[in-house]
Formats: sequence, structure tokens, C-alpha cells
Amino acid sequence: MVRDVPVYGDVILSPMAAVSDVPCRAVSRVYGSAMQYTEFVAAEALLAPENSQWRRLDKKEGEYPLVFQIFGNNAETILAAAQKIEAWGPDIIDINMGCSVKQVSGRGAGVGMMRQPKLVADTFRLLTTHLSVPVTGKLRLGWSQEERNFLEIAKIMEDNGASLIAMHGRTKAQAYKGTADWDAIGELKQVVSVPVIGNGDVKKPADIDALKAHTGCDGVMVGRTAIGNPWILGRRERTEVPISEICEVVRLHVRENVAYYGNPRGFNLFGRHMRKYFYGRPVKPFMQRLLAIRDLDELDVILEQIEETLPVTSRDK
Ligand SMILES: Cc1cc2nc3c(=O)[nH]c(=O)nc-3n(C[C@H](O)[C@H](O)[C@H](O)COP(=O)(O)O)c2cc1C
Repeated sequence: MVRDVPVYGDVILSPMAAVSDVPCRAVSRVYGSAMQYTEFVAAEALLAPENSQWRRLDKKEGEYPLVFQIFGNNAETILAAAQKIEAWGPDIIDINMGCSVKQVSGRGAGVGMMRQPKLVADTFRLLTTHLSVPVTGKLRLGWSQEERNFLEIAKIMEDNGASLIAMHGRTKAQAYKGTADWDAIGELKQVVSVPVIGNGDVKKPADIDALKAHTGCDGVMVGRTAIGNPWILGRRERTEVPISEICEVVRLHVRENVAYYGNPRGFNLFGRHMRKYFYGRPVKPFMQRLLAIRDLDELDVILEQIEETLPVTSRDK
């Protein structure tokens, strides 16, 4: 439960800019993602005249619970943006306090918020006072090893009405390097009473339950490993997935992409997923053609050839 919003399941596709869009979420849902997070959007972009960023908050029928994720560095601006988008129908609004890229964190947004406890308090107090939907936040361990203040920030969030805390077990300084600190996720779980989602370094299905057992967290978010691998969301080993099923999901995902973005954009944007879907499979002779395709029938022809030629699973010779 996120306040009064039920969540059925404990594995969640991470919010990922340029990845967790409407088509990707549609596929992830089929395979068991228990909550749907949008890509993050700047509060300022939401308050500006209509622009391409708004589409990141598109909602497809059946997406429940849908979490709109936004970021900013000013509590009033974040509130104004949140009030505007609340009318667009999210079930939950989440504040990104984890983004490490310079353009975001350098101006005090994303993980930059973690250096400003008062901003965190003001933002959560204002939003939870003025919105009807639950307000949640996603953070990191802190800015650097010397500034690991996640416990302080999490308490501030909870004291100011946050309904759930998700944490990526790395600092800003680590970005995506080193290993995620699962001990820290366990510490967080012990100091707050709202649900905690643990995140970082889930690479195989067994890691999901290992992270839960290690920390006591209520749910697990999977980011990079879930790109082109929605099976992890259902705790399935990708090496066991038959090639026919991979081709089936590629068919579905490309169709969703083209329906949503049009042609050729839907194909162009699919490239990053295509390589990942076939990770570990001997598709090299087909990849160039797969990436060049701009027609659904042609795609089906190549996928049929792949199904006929490739071993069923990565374990088969
Ligand atoms: C391409 C990419 C885009 C991301 N965009 C977002 C985002 O918009 N919002 C967010 O909270 N985290 C974002 N993240 C961070 C992930 O949600 C997650 O916290 C991080 O990748 C660690 O989890 P993992 O080890 O399972 O990948 C992004 C990560 C990647 C790799």
C-alpha cells in the first residue's frame, strides 16, 4: 500500500529517462511490473507552454498505479507543477532526488535536493498539504561518501508526509560505478515506517529476493537489467527464455513503439532495446538488418528467420 493506493507485487521497473516510456511500460506490465513510473520531467517544463516533455506523462489505459515523476529545485515551482499534473490523472506523484547528471544535480535538483534539507521539508510539506494523491520520493545515499545523509533526508520526508521512499544504494559521486550498498537500504528500512523500495545492482532474479532478505525492503526496483529483459520483473532467468518468446516480445514492443511514436521514430527509438533483447544470443548476422528496419512486415520476416535459425535458449547448443 502506498498510503491508500494498493500495489500488487513487489518488483517494479525503475524510472529511466528515454527508456521507461509508454511502450516500454506496456511490455513491463505484461511481465509483472507492480507499479508504473514515468520518466522524470522538470517542473519548469511542465509550467512552460506545451512541449515535448509533457508526453512523458502520457497515461495508457490500465496503467495502475501510475507514478508521475518530476524534479526541480524550488518548492513552490514543484508544487505548481504537481498541482497542474495532478489533473492529468496520476495515482501517485514522485519527486526525483536521485538524478546525478550535472545539468540536474548541479542546479540543486535531483540528488542536489539532498544537500538542502529545508528544500526537501518544504517540498514534501507543501505537496502533501495541497495534493490529494500520495507523494513519494526516490533518493540516493547522498552526494558523496562524506555526505551520506539518506537517513536524515528520509526522516524529513516521512515527517513531512511522504508515503513511500525508494532508494538507489549509491552516492551522486559514484553515479553508476562501484556496487550498490544494500546495508544502507536495510538501515533506511529500520528508521522509517513508510514502505521502502530498494534499488541497485539487481542483475538476476535471485537478486530480487536476496535484496529483500538483506534489507527487509517492501519492494525492489530494477533498472538497467530490465532493459530488453522484462522477464526479470517476473523473476525469470533470461537464459531460459525461448527465442520464440523473445521474438514475440520484440514484435509487441516495436508495434507499441510505432503506434505511439509513429514511423520512423518508433523504429529509430527502438534500437537501444533491440540489442538488449537479444543479449547473449547469436544474432550477430541479423542485427544490422534488425536495426535498419522501418517496416513491420519486414521485421516479422527477419524475426521468423531468427526463430528458425537460433538455438531455443542460450543453454542449447
Ligand atoms: C538510462 C537511465 C535513465 C534513468 N532515468 C531515471 C529517471 O528518469 N528517474 C529516476 O528516478 N532514476 C533514473 N535512473 C536511475 C534508475 O532508476 C536506477 O535508480 C538506477 O539505474 C540503479 O538501478 P539499477 O542498478 O537496477 O540499474 C536512470 C537510469 C538509467 C540507466
